[in-house]
Amino acid sequence: MCGIVAYVGEQKAYPIIIKGLQRLEYRGYDSAGVALLENKSIEILKQAGKVSDLESYAANKNTNGHIGIGHTRWATHGVPNEINAHPHNSGDGKLAIIHNGIIENYDSLKKALQEKGHQFESDTDTEVLIHLIEDIKNHENCSLFEAVRLVLNEVIGAYAIVVIEKGTTDEFIAARKGSPLVIGVGEGEYFVASDASPIIEYTRNVVYLEDGEIARINKSEELDIKTISNVKKTPYIHELELSLDSIEKGGFSSFMLKEIFEQPKSIIDTLRGRINPTTKEITLGGILNYEQKIINADRIIIVACGTSWHAGLIGEYLFEDLSRISVEVEYASEFRYRNPIINKNDVVLAISQSGETADSLAALELAKEKGATLLGICNVVGSSIPRLTHAGSYTHAGPEIGVASTKAFTTQIIVLALMAIKMAHKKGTITISKYHEIITELELIPEKIEKILKKNDQIEKIAEKFKNATNFLYLGRGYNFPVALEGALKLKEISYIHAEGYPAAEMKHGPIALIDDNMPIVVIATKKGNYDKVVSNIQEVKARGGRLIAIVTEGDKTVKELADYCIEVPDSFDGLSPLLTNIPLQLLSYHIALMRGCNVDMPRNLAKSVTVE
Ligand code: AGP
Ligand code: GLU
Repeated sequence: MCGIVAYVGEQKAYPIIIKGLQRLEYRGYDSAGVALLENKSIEILKQAGKVSDLESYAANKNTNGHIGIGHTRWATHGVPNEINAHPHNSGDGKLAIIHNGIIENYDSLKKALQEKGHQFESDTDTEVLIHLIEDIKNHENCSLFEAVRLVLNEVIGAYAIVVIEKGTTDEFIAARKGSPLVIGVGEGEYFVASDASPIIEYTRNVVYLEDGEIARINKSEELDIKTISNVKKTPYIHELELSLDSIEKGGFSSFMLKEIFEQPKSIIDTLRGRINPTTKEITLGGILNYEQKIINADRIIIVACGTSWHAGLIGEYLFEDLSRISVEVEYASEFRYRNPIINKNDVVLAISQSGETADSLAALELAKEKGATLLGICNVVGSSIPRLTHAGSYTHAGPEIGVASTKAFTTQIIVLALMAIKMAHKKGTITISKYHEIITELELIPEKIEKILKKNDQIEKIAEKFKNATNFLYLGRGYNFPVALEGALKLKEISYIHAEGYPAAEMKHGPIALIDDNMPIVVIATKKGNYDKVVSNIQEVKARGGRLIAIVTEGDKTVKELADYCIEVPDSFDGLSPLLTNIPLQLLSYHIALMRGCNVDMPRNLAKSVTVE
């Protein structure tokens, strides 16, 4: 995880790096640090905590220098304190490094270096890397560029790194394998960052460093890129489409709230150009050449983590229900290590907001080895998953900064729905009239969400009643079972209240034992699907005294009589109802977290993009 920013050029590096780190803080916020080069000295400033803590600390320090590196950490090796904060120095203090990822063989490398007399200050794997670079540089008497290249041939693991050298104020070395790195190309200046958000303000021209590539970045020269096996590469400059507005809060108190309220617009963006206004034909340009492959697939195996995995479950229900294609949904982290059966005729579909999740990438790599067709549904354009897969569709939700996924989830479901409906239409597994009925419903989703968002005040009042609860149970059936899982995850991650999602009918096989007068139960009980069955489950809860919050279809009477609190959502096609029922659950978690004094954008211990195992 972690965010990396580096700058070399004519401007002062520090303000650019700090602003960039603030934009990348969603990737990790255990500590922050910068190293600035001026004449013959390296100034390293670092602090445990947030970028704002670093800023206060640096306020009366020397922050000059036109070249520098910065890091916001999500600790993997060593507790989140100042000593373990990046940048890390070489033993002789001549080199400094920032690193995102894990050096898996750091222990054996560390022991070998210790035998040679190296002494380490921190517990990080990163410090081992910089000592090794120092060691090889001195031993081989070579340039920093060559020393980094030689070292990267010895390390096992994942990294995005930037290394600076005392006395060299016009260039630094960057490299990546498994963790993202973007180089912004300006006029006489370069920027390096974990994603494009720190760069967008200064230049739209970027080069995405590929896995196994290393770059010498000199402010007065063209980029010098080669592979770690020493093959020269020609940089390819992409033009960024990202807008500055999309990465700022725009008047909202948090990114999470902004992103919840943005969902109608995000869905419109996801749908844009994909449904013909006259014929209602669906076109997903990215998978056009793979449609037949999907239809003829033995199975679609969906691999994902966290919220994206929940979207995958909804995808399973949609594909099986509408297009009658068999689907399996796997946690990427389990799939990659359990020796799964993967055939050439399988389609493996990774769902990921960031496109950088290490487990999802590894699952795809495994599927690639077995000859399966690889597809992706991602939000971040140009990220690693879209570059690894044969084809895919972007969600076009715009940057999601809040660590808790909201609009990314919603738009993932939209893309899955488009795919499933398209395949169903092509295969003839739904009638033409059903096809048109679903498309009409799909196009109505943004305005229905607008209507639900107007209930924000009502939801805030409900949150007030439950803010001190210590446990929650979320129940749903059919298409709304994954929504129960997602509702529980959202509450857990931002309010730190224990919550479990369950298929409503499974409750009687165990969790029912938890229910007492204090237990809040959130139940999704919309009219379509298994409404009557869910009503029976609600009765079972009621009989045991649980406090019920129900998400119901507008005009519902039965559940209203049973539940303590009801939040109405408009009616829709059952398969699209998660897009509506999930919205009140997002708001409920948001308000409860806020009332408990939690940081909703940066919940403890989490990071937005999990680029480590
Ligand atoms: C979502 O709220 C979580 N923070 C997390 O579960 C996330 O969905 C998961 O890490 C997967 O990320 P990805 O979509 O970027 O692959
Ligand atoms: N493994 C390094 C550490 O623990 C880097 C972690 C990160 O990517 O933030 O410091």
